[in-house]
Amino acid sequence: MLTSLPEYQALSQHYSDVQQTSMRQWFEQNPNRFTEYTLQAAGITLDYSKNRVACETMQKLADLARARFIPEAIEAMFKGDLVNPSEGRPALHTALRNFSDGPVMVDGKDVMPEVRKTLTRMKEFCWRIRNQHWRGFSNKPFTDVVSIGIGGSFLGPKLASQALKPYWGKKINCHYLANIDGSNLTEVLQGLNPETTLFIVQSKSFGTQETLKNAIECRQWFLDNGGQESDLPRHFTAVTANVEKAKAFGINEKNIFPMWDWVGGRYSLWSAIGLPLMLTIGHENFKQVLQGAHEMDVHFRTAPLEQNMPVIMAMLGVWYINFFNAQSHAILPYDHYLRGLPAHIQQLDMESNGKSVDIHGSKLNYQAGPIIWGGVGSNGQHAYHQLLHQGTQFVPCDFIMPLQTHNPVDSFHELLISNCLSQSQALMQGKTLEEAKEELRKEGKSEREIAVLAPQKVIPGNRPSNTIFFDKANPKIVGALIALYEHKVFVQGKIWDINSFDQWGVELGKQLGNQVHAAIQAEGDTNIDNHFDASTLGLIKAFRSMKHK
Ligand code: F6P
Repeated sequence: MLTSLPEYQALSQHYSDVQQTSMRQWFEQNPNRFTEYTLQAAGITLDYSKNRVACETMQKLADLARARFIPEAIEAMFKGDLVNPSEGRPALHTALRNFSDGPVMVDGKDVMPEVRKTLTRMKEFCWRIRNQHWRGFSNKPFTDVVSIGIGGSFLGPKLASQALKPYWGKKINCHYLANIDGSNLTEVLQGLNPETTLFIVQSKSFGTQETLKNAIECRQWFLDNGGQESDLPRHFTAVTANVEKAKAFGINEKNIFPMWDWVGGRYSLWSAIGLPLMLTIGHENFKQVLQGAHEMDVHFRTAPLEQNMPVIMAMLGVWYINFFNAQSHAILPYDHYLRGLPAHIQQLDMESNGKSVDIHGSKLNYQAGPIIWGGVGSNGQHAYHQLLHQGTQFVPCDFIMPLQTHNPVDSFHELLISNCLSQSQALMQGKTLEEAKEELRKEGKSEREIAVLAPQKVIPGNRPSNTIFFDKANPKIVGALIALYEHKVFVQGKIWDINSFDQWGVELGKQLGNQVHAAIQAEGDTNIDNHFDASTLGLIKAFRSMKHK
């Protein structure tokens, strides 16, 4: 049990010792704190000096990581051990970006030849589309790709293709269709020309309701707007681990790219699920994305715990969640192109570690995965940063910033970065009552006014943040950044002894969704009255009454 480990208890004791200490003090006492609490990997620098940690804290966190066998767990994941026991699978997303020569074995078979073969097929496919050899039914080159998929078959490619927009060139536009919402579908399709649009149906299972429904509608739209049945193979491709289902759906086998059971949905950007990304940025840039992730993998696998970026980020999270009672964690990219990062990390982290039962089936007696949220800076400063600075919640933050911009405009980038740096500074430093009073005195306020106003202007400070920075959000960096968070999530899952690679929690909603849909479609009330609670029944009936108007 995590909480009874001596290393955990040592951290508990240490928490009582340091919880009153302010980071301001630490910075005053140690002018080298920035250098000592900064490290680099795969082109990314992590400054974790603005955290509620002393040297001793970091040592104790590393001790806990060792006590939870983190080095062994990392090795087990890379080697292809069954790290996802509830589904009896390894989790080998790292094999998809493995640039070393060594084999990666699954069930006694090296999966690397199959991985490389698929990458080559993707490369050829993209080359033919981008160089206009594979064209639409009227012989016009493709101008648009619609990626149909949801969850992990959507968020990763969307984030990366948005992040790498400066590398798109002018050839292909990319659109994403995820939600089962006629408005979304209508908006995506209305600007498109069926003659020049390519669809990629992205579903590991090929059984996801939203994706299949969207795919059927897109096919119908294509047929209603000039395409013939015989043109479908030119315009519809699929990525799936369930080739038979994709074939049954009507996708030509030659246009189906495989993925494998040992790749989790939210870890699948690196597989053929990354096809829309490759189509937009080209094969060479896509390879750089893989290369960046691989460099982070090598760092994660080889660096000692004390200098291991994903491990440090994970252990800082454990420190705040399990000792400071933090409920959430904010992801704050100061880069327009990285605006999709919070949504991707949200799925990655919350679907992986949003669990309350351990890998052996016992209920946890400690907190696990946090709520992940966030948004792009500096918009957030005029919205939720108020709560970060003065709210009753304690929210550790990750500030993420490129030192260079893709689009230099006047002093915009300097101002953006100044905003980013001053936010983490303000969170750390805060404003004391005395400082608030002094400010008000300078403004000429009376002592009576000051007594009321000053406490409201106090900013407690001592609120932790990481600053993650790099030269530019290029393909390699984007790959490394996403891999960094994947590994952070993995380490935390191991500390909490949960399976980060399954997601049973989403299944109940899917099952009940089918029953509710059947009730919405049923004729009359007799068959549905006994099946639902009063609230759900009332809501079904409200919907049905509108439907028939
Ligand atoms: O419902 C959650 C989920 O299972 C995710 O884990 C997955 O990425 C997503 O659905 C889509 O699944 P699929 O790729 O099989 O359509």
